[in-house]
Formats: sequence, C-alpha cells, structure tokens
Amino acid sequence: MPARTALPALVRDPLGALVAFGDQHAGGVLRLGLGSVRPYLISDPAHVQHVLRDNADNYVRDGKGMLWQPVRRLFGEGILAEGPVWAASRRTLQPLFTAKRIDALADRMAEAIGDAVDDLRAPAAAGESVDIGAALSRIVCRAIMNVLFADKVSVPDALRIVAAQDRIAVAILPRLLVPFVPNAIPMPGDRAFNGGVRTIDDVLLPVVRSERAQTGSGDDIIATLARAVDDEGQPVTERQARNDAVAMFATSTETTFGLLTWLWPMLQAHPEVAERLYAEIDTVVGDGPVRRTHLKELRYTRMVLDELLRLYPVAWLMPRTAVGDDVIGGVRIERGADLIISPYVTQRLAGVWDRPNEFDPDRFAPENARQQHRYAHYPFGGGPHQCLGQYLFYLETQLIVATILSRFRFQVTTPGIPAPQVAASLRPKERVRLVLRPVDRAVAA
Ligand code: HEM
Repeated sequence: MPARTALPALVRDPLGALVAFGDQHAGGVLRLGLGSVRPYLISDPAHVQHVLRDNADNYVRDGKGMLWQPVRRLFGEGILAEGPVWAASRRTLQPLFTAKRIDALADRMAEAIGDAVDDLRAPAAAGESVDIGAALSRIVCRAIMNVLFADKVSVPDALRIVAAQDRIAVAILPRLLVPFVPNAIPMPGDRAFNGGVRTIDDVLLPVVRSERAQTGSGDDIIATLARAVDDEGQPVTERQARNDAVAMFATSTETTFGLLTWLWPMLQAHPEVAERLYAEIDTVVGDGPVRRTHLKELRYTRMVLDELLRLYPVAWLMPRTAVGDDVIGGVRIERGADLIISPYVTQRLAGVWDRPNEFDPDRFAPENARQQHRYAHYPFGGGPHQCLGQYLFYLETQLIVATILSRFRFQVTTPGIPAPQVAASLRPKERVRLVLRPVDRAVAA
C-alpha cells in the first residue's frame, strides 16, 4: 500500500486505519508505505501465531524504530528488551508470577483492595462524583505495592511514578508516529519524556540501590532484582536492576487501571450485561469480603474482562523485526523488515469476529471460546515474550470489580464511551467520572 494512501489515514486515526487495512485485505499480509519505513501488517490469527510463537526466533523486539526504540529509552536493556539480557531478566522474574505464588498472595491482595475501596465510601455518601481512572490507579497501586513491592515504594511515591508514566506515554507519541528519526535528533515531547524519566529514577533508583547494598532474602520484585545474576552467574548491573524495576512497575500498574476505566461506561451502555454481572457478584460474594475462593465462581466477571480486553487490548502494538528471510501467507518477508502485530486489529477483524465492534461477553462463554483460533484473542501476546502478569491480571481485576460492585452501584456522569487514545499503551482519551451509591442489600436480595 503506497504512502499516499496509508500515511494520511494513519495520522488521522491510526487504530481505525489499521483495522480498515486489515479488513480490506481479509487479514492477508499487507505492506504499508510510511515514508522510509515500510512495515508489514500481520493480522490473521495463524500468521500472528507464526510470528509470535512458531517462528519466534526469527522475529525480534529490537527494531530500529517503531515502538521499541522510543520505549528502550525508558526501560533500557532488561525484561522488555531482547537477547541474553532479556533472557536473564525473564529467568529472574518468572518464578514470581507462577499461578501457585500468585494464588498465595490473593488474600493479601483482596485485603489491600478492600481497604483501598473503603476510600470510595466518603464520596459515595456525599453523592460526589469520582474520577474512576484516578480511583482505580490508587486501588491498583495499593494492591501492587503491597504484594509485589513489599511496600518498599509508598503509595504516594507510586502515584508520582504513575503520573510520570502518563506524561511519558503521551510524550512518546511523536517518536512513535515518526519512528525513523534517530534519538540524537530532538523531537517535540523529548523534554517531557526526560522529565518523566527523571521523576521515575528519583523514586526507584534509591530503592534499588539500598536493596543492593544489603543481601535481603525477600521475594518481592525489588529484593529479587537485587539478587539477580546474568547468564554467567555474575550479579547484574545496577542499570539492569533499575531497568527491570521500572519495567515491572509500569507493566503491573498502568495496564490494569487503564483497561478497567472502560468497564463503567461500557456497563452503563449495556444494562443487560451489568445486571448479569451484579447477579453473579451478589450470589458469589454477597456483602463480602471477596476472597480467593470466590474467584473461580466469578465466571461471567471473567468473560466481561475478556471482552473488554478484546475491544481495548492495552498492549495494542507489538512490533517485531525479521532476523532472516521468511514467507508468511505466501508473502515474502525479507530480512530486516519491520512487522506490526496488533491485537487491536486482529480482535476487531470482521473475518475473525462476528459483529466485531459490539460488546458481547458471551463470546467468551466456554462453548463459544473453544471455537476460536488461539490467536483470535491475544491481549497478552504469546510465545517466548508472553505476558508474565496474565494470571495476576485476572486475579487482581476480578477482585477489584467484585469488591467495588459488591458494595456499590454507579451512574457514569461523563458522556459516552471514551475513544481509545494511541500511546505506548492504549488509554481512554477522556476521563470517566461516576457517582457511586452503596448497594441496598434489601433490594439486591
Ligand atoms: C491488561 C493487562 C495487561 C496486558 C494487556 C498485557 C499485555 C502484554 C503483552 C501483549 C505482552 C507481550 C509483549 C510482546 O510480545 O512484545 C506483555 C509482556 C509483559 N507483561 Fe503484560 N500485560 C498486562 C498486564 C501485566 C501485568 C499486571 C504484569 C506484571 C506483573 C505484566 C508484565 C509483563 C512483562 C514483564 C512482560 C514482558 C515479558 C517478556 O518480554 O518476556 N503485564 N504484556
């Protein structure tokens, strides 16, 4: 597809344009002309599986441009990079995220979430509206700082990092859209980007340093990174420990509250879904508190989360670069080519999903979900870089949704459903405000 067709459409509405290109070519491999960069758009589930999993060795994350170069300026070499350094970080961090370990943290997490949700009682009693994105970021930070960071980062400090991440995600946009400009050339957004990185380092570096100065035995992220070794058994550098601390902070916070912000306007627009969700939570949890043992019974809650992740996969862009020549779907991919893999595109393709833009959690009822290709829905990626936090995500978000809705009903006061804004991750373009009111159990029963 020539630049004169692809570029203006992409600049106007990157997400809509990518889905339209995918639809027009029925999910076939398509080359986009974007000036000096000509990436292939890979959207068919079988092709995605080929790149992310079956032939993953040939597709790496260290492209010259696209997302990874700008992102690398924040996270550096470590878990969000590639090659031996990535492999060492993944070996270090993976044991923290096994289902067994996360299950063991569930009750502590439920308690932290319960305490954080208590803060919503006052505005609910006063009938004041709350910015639910901001409220969710406090809830997530309280839970994650407690269970993953052993409270070594305070909640106010965590919220400073969240605000800095927010500035960075937007400041990165010009480099994301014009990926062929080298880092050495100044771009708009660079100052905000650098200021954001400084704030994050001001908070996290002292924590990483002080932990490395002692030989702690904790199993939180900071203590684990302080003991980390490379593939020759040597302690990793302070830089790598810092990089992984920053990456783990970002991946474990903003993804979750970004996604959950969409839930409320979506439920308001789909009262039949909201009613089923309330009914499930009322039956399983009652007036609470929510416990780990409730989670496997919150099946509809999980279907709602899966459908939300289909429409708003926060990690919307996973660029890859081909190491060697390959053929995908009959199209030759030459060594060095950039590939765009986007769950946003695949998960909205008309050839893959019936009524793709409609919110319908029943798609994820077990009997329906089984009929779909594994890579028709891949908000957490796949293959060797598969998200480390997937199990934690479902557990945490089920706890958050069930805790809030076992205590409150709500009325969204801002108009409509926010459009997704393209940044390093997908985020709601507008803020969502809502008024909460305590559940009247006599009525709910
Ligand atoms: C809505 C929630 C989330 C979504 C949609 C999401 C999505 C993803 C995706 C798509 C990838 C793969 C990137 C690629 O292949 O290039 C990824 C990687 C990763 N995610 Fe998540 N994630 C979420 C939450 C979390 C949470 C809660 C954590 C942490 C505790 C986490 C930690 C990570 C890490 C460490 C990686 C890098 C793995 C690697 O490259 O080896 N994520 N995530």
